[in-house]
Amino acid sequence: MEEKILVLDFGGQYNQLIARRVREQHVYAEIKPYNKITPEAIVAEGYQGIIFTGGPNSVYDEKSPHYDPRILELGIPILGICYGAQLMAYMAGGRVDSAENSSEYGKTVVNTRPNAFWQDVPETSICWMSHTDYISEVPARFQTIAYTDKCPCAAMCDESRKLYAVQFHPEVTHTQYGKQMLRNFLFDVCGCKGEWKMEGFVEQSIARYKETLAGKKVLLALSGGVDSSVAAVLLHKAIGKNLTCVFVDHGLLRKDEGDFVEQTFRGQFDMNLIRVNAQERFLTKLAGVTEPERKRKIIGEEFIRVFEEEAKKIGKVNVLVQGTIYPDVIESGAGDASTIKSHHNVGGLPDVIDFDEILEPLRDLFKDEVREVGTQLGIPHALVWRQPFPGPGLAVRVIGEITWEKLEVLREADAIFREELEKAGAVSNQYFAVLTDVRSVGVMGDARTYGRTIALRAVTTDDFMTAEWTRLPFEVLERSSSRITNEVPGISRVVYDITSKPPATVEWE
Ligand code: XMP
Repeated sequence: MEEKILVLDFGGQYNQLIARRVREQHVYAEIKPYNKITPEAIVAEGYQGIIFTGGPNSVYDEKSPHYDPRILELGIPILGICYGAQLMAYMAGGRVDSAENSSEYGKTVVNTRPNAFWQDVPETSICWMSHTDYISEVPARFQTIAYTDKCPCAAMCDESRKLYAVQFHPEVTHTQYGKQMLRNFLFDVCGCKGEWKMEGFVEQSIARYKETLAGKKVLLALSGGVDSSVAAVLLHKAIGKNLTCVFVDHGLLRKDEGDFVEQTFRGQFDMNLIRVNAQERFLTKLAGVTEPERKRKIIGEEFIRVFEEEAKKIGKVNVLVQGTIYPDVIESGAGDASTIKSHHNVGGLPDVIDFDEILEPLRDLFKDEVREVGTQLGIPHALVWRQPFPGPGLAVRVIGEITWEKLEVLREADAIFREELEKAGAVSNQYFAVLTDVRSVGVMGDARTYGRTIALRAVTTDDFMTAEWTRLPFEVLERSSSRITNEVPGISRVVYDITSKPPATVEWE
């Protein structure tokens, strides 16, 4: 059986990061809400080890999440982190206290006591702490193996039952030897070998789908984004022409994007691809609309209508594929809800298509893992590393009413900006142009002009929840401005957006 680790989720903010750090060591990790798996199921699944995550609660809160106490007796190694550590201490008969003057937040010096768990970790190192409660008395059979100035027990263990607990966060990069600590747990304590690889994922998925999808009619909505593209190629390798991809070109894509998608999937991969050229349809619906939310709604609805019509032509479908990835699947240990974020492109599709089941081949992968799979499948670099692009496309980057002529102007300016930024090797996580509805006076030759204003936007961010405006080299801005005003008719002014998020959003609408 493939070796794997269970990350038992108590609602902490770093849960996904923990799973990712484990996978970086080539050990497969699955996150499950603490109340959604029984000790019997844990044994049946054959997990090599369990990690209790952090969480926002205090162990004494009435509603705080608790594990089934039998888990400690399964003989499976456990590592408790932060709240998970406190919970282990508390439920095993120790004591947890809360004291304002004992809270630690940020980089903290941790001292270790000799123990095999600290192999290749120095006696003193910096760890990342974030807690007010602390373990004030370790339970019977446990011993303290690390401490700080303020915290008498920064780590504890019961070696006989292979139970370990750390008050700090080894998964966060600020913890100097965090990676080594996780390695010690995975390889020495749990006995993992670290043989899990993305290649294994690709091969196993293809082999599995060859079998389970044999003879079935499979449908996928291709947006040209990373996730749906990777899902499409993966399934194509398994079932070939039994997979039909529908790509709706709503006319709100960037320069040459529609053709690139078609050429990649039909040309390079010889897929069964239906490109629906629905540009006019979308523009007609959007005519005269200026309110951002209305635009989004119209596009989302129209997308579903177009897809519905195509689906009717195809007839009965056995399997509908969705490019859901792990971060889209929000399963919180703190609540009972299991919510799936609906991408506007596919969110409403299940209602309008006649199908038997939904398949989400990437639902266990993180974005960077999806990219790695994409690379292994031979998908072009430009697609695998494509920056995020909103479902409603350029409609939210043309301020005010949308016309074909405005879209064409924006496409040109946007292509120039992206080209200049990339040519200069500048680094930014998302960068694009916006066509504002501001006109201003300019001068060209001897003539007065009254043209439109393009705004350039580039942001630096990890998660797009917050973002900083990118400090682009002036040369990039200068060349972009000069080329846009020279090469794109009707533009007489270029500005650079220097607002971070918050208070602004990444997109202008
Ligand atoms: P905001 O503008 O909310 O954008 O700061 C954050 C990130 O989300 C992208 N975005 C969208 N993606 N459908 C999408 O699929 C949308 O309606 C949408 N709106 C914004 C945006 O490009 C940025 O990466």
